[in-house]
Amino acid sequence: MMGAATLLQTSLSDLKLLRRGKVRDVYTVDDDYLLIVATDRISAFDCILPTPIERKGAVLTALSEFWFEHLSHVVPNHLVTTEIDKMPEIIRRQCKNLEARSMLVRRAEVFPIECVVRGYIAGSGWKDYLRTGEVCGHKLPQGLQESEELLEPIFTPATKAEEGHDQNISEARVRELLGTETTNFLRDTSLNLYSEARSYARSRGIIIADTKFEFGRDKNGKILLVDEALTPDSSRFWPLEGYMPGGAQPSFDKQFVRDYLETLDWDKKPPAPSISYQVAEATTRRYLEAFRLITGKNI
Ligand SMILES: Nc1ncnc2c1ncn2[C@@H]1O[C@H](COP(=O)(O)OP(=O)(O)OP(=O)(O)O)[C@@H](O)[C@H]1O
Ligand SMILES: [Mg+2]
Repeated sequence: MMGAATLLQTSLSDLKLLRRGKVRDVYTVDDDYLLIVATDRISAFDCILPTPIERKGAVLTALSEFWFEHLSHVVPNHLVTTEIDKMPEIIRRQCKNLEARSMLVRRAEVFPIECVVRGYIAGSGWKDYLRTGEVCGHKLPQGLQESEELLEPIFTPATKAEEGHDQNISEARVRELLGTETTNFLRDTSLNLYSEARSYARSRGIIIADTKFEFGRDKNGKILLVDEALTPDSSRFWPLEGYMPGGAQPSFDKQFVRDYLETLDWDKKPPAPSISYQVAEATTRRYLEAFRLITGKNI
């Protein structure tokens, strides 16, 4: 399992870097295509750590690919291929380190909305509920416990903040931004994708408490599911075994990292401290385990 080369950052000389996110480096291939490279960076408390997590980029890529395929009957997506051999020559000739962590995708104009769906009440949804009894305009029953399953999954969109935290907004606000028809489509599609993924994952021992989708329009105006899909970075995964509402649940992937960082005297502002080899390795094992449970395969 161990010994795979890790990658913290890419620099591809022949392609233009479009953006470097916390985890992924995005390059322009041409007017129609982008290359998204998932590195082994990990963030915790919104800071990128200096320690890579072996295999993480590969797990994120393969898991997104799995879900794109599994859910393609619900909505078309942007993935063209994850195989370097099938990518354009400009990528193939500088493919060192890119294998198994790269997606060639159709370029889209991304809607400036994070399409969040929650089946359980946690995170910022829980905070909003405690304060107001609502999440993004959904009035919820009184007396919910933290991490409790909701009667029905809810669509809780957020703005895509350039800096800092995304902000939860109401569906009515999305309608003002994108119009009724597009809003309804994004809401219904997000709920359908989530419901299918959730029951599938649950049958395999993982609760997908919530997740975030992004959508965009291709040059023909068709709406595509873009970005990553249902990975531990875009979703809350909880082990079904031991699930117990009434408090925060252990996160499938980053719990060791968070627990370890909590033992340090660090103010949670950059630069983040490094983590030990043992913590990094345990985290790799968790990512691989999530992948194995969901897909039934090893990578
Ligand atoms: N098919 C696509 N066409 C155009 N842009 C895309 C497409 N798929 C994903 N993107 C964009 O590429 C970026 C992916 O990078 P990444 O997720 O690492 O960064 P981020 O979301 O801005 O920041 P972070 O996830 O670190 O908070 C996002 O801005 C996403 O909207
Ligand atoms: Mg992102």
